Amino acid sequence: MSNYFCVNGKIVLAKNAKLQVTDLGLLRGYGIFDFLKVENGIPLFIEDHMARFQNSAKEMGLKLGYSVEELKRFVMKLIAKNEFKNGGMKIILTGGYSSDGYLPAKESNMIILLTPLKPPTKKVYSKGVKLILHKHFRYSAVVKTTNYIEPIRLANDIKKANAIDVLYHWNGKISESSRSNFFIVKKNKTIVTSTSHVLKGITRKRVITLANEHYKVVEKDITIRDLKNATEAFLSSTTKGTLPVVQIDDIKIGSGKTGKVSSHLNQLLKKQAKKYKKNFKI
Ligand SMILES: Cc1ncc(COP(=O)(O)O)c(C=O)c1O
Repeated sequence: MSNYFCVNGKIVLAKNAKLQVTDLGLLRGYGIFDFLKVENGIPLFIEDHMARFQNSAKEMGLKLGYSVEELKRFVMKLIAKNEFKNGGMKIILTGGYSSDGYLPAKESNMIILLTPLKPPTKKVYSKGVKLILHKHFRYSAVVKTTNYIEPIRLANDIKKANAIDVLYHWNGKISESSRSNFFIVKKNKTIVTSTSHVLKGITRKRVITLANEHYKVVEKDITIRDLKNATEAFLSSTTKGTLPVVQIDDIKIGSGKTGKVSSHLNQLLKKQAKKYKKNFKI
């Protein structure tokens, strides 16, 4: 973690960054957040992340008294104060100090943290990963809430299965993983990504745009049977880029080895991030 955090717009020493115990984020799990990657002191795709943060607040009825421009200024100030180069940035908004422990306060609380980041190793990208199917759908999936109870509760089962995460499904349809969106590649090379009950990931959006230049991309429901016929599958997220999935429960994806589409898209994502950094203006 960094030396300084930002609490309600003020930069404070990390050890002095505190919220009171009556905050609704703690008492009722009423909170939202967003997360982005910082590279060489530049918060990647900050405009997209702050716009999603604003939208999550709106959807949840949380008061956010700052514009995207103001949020961007807080983040840049915190990065500069910490002389932070590479890692993650988390911005969290909670329901504030509730007088009755239930209804939201007049003022929300907002904290910004800079954190270390551990992306998957090269070996993980070259071997691919396993997921386990789990029947679940995220309530208000378009909102990035702070609720990750389900996958945290399942952490031991995931580890026992030699998997890295869950893959949610509901009514026979695959939605997403706990912190990533999900894609498959069909035999005819069409890329399909789930649309129902998913967070509209910033990486998902970038993948769709970049992939459209090289492949046919379709946003539609993916069934469990589709998994059996897929030649490739991969996850997308801010931390992972695109990460190949080679096994889901007992289902081997394609040949059981990583495919070309996922790594091609990961290269395109990296190129796009490089361009973003080059053109970045405060
Ligand atoms: C539930 C869920 N889906 C998808 C994603 C991927 O979103 P992004 O590409 O914006 O990181 C996340 C990110 O944490 C997530 O929590």
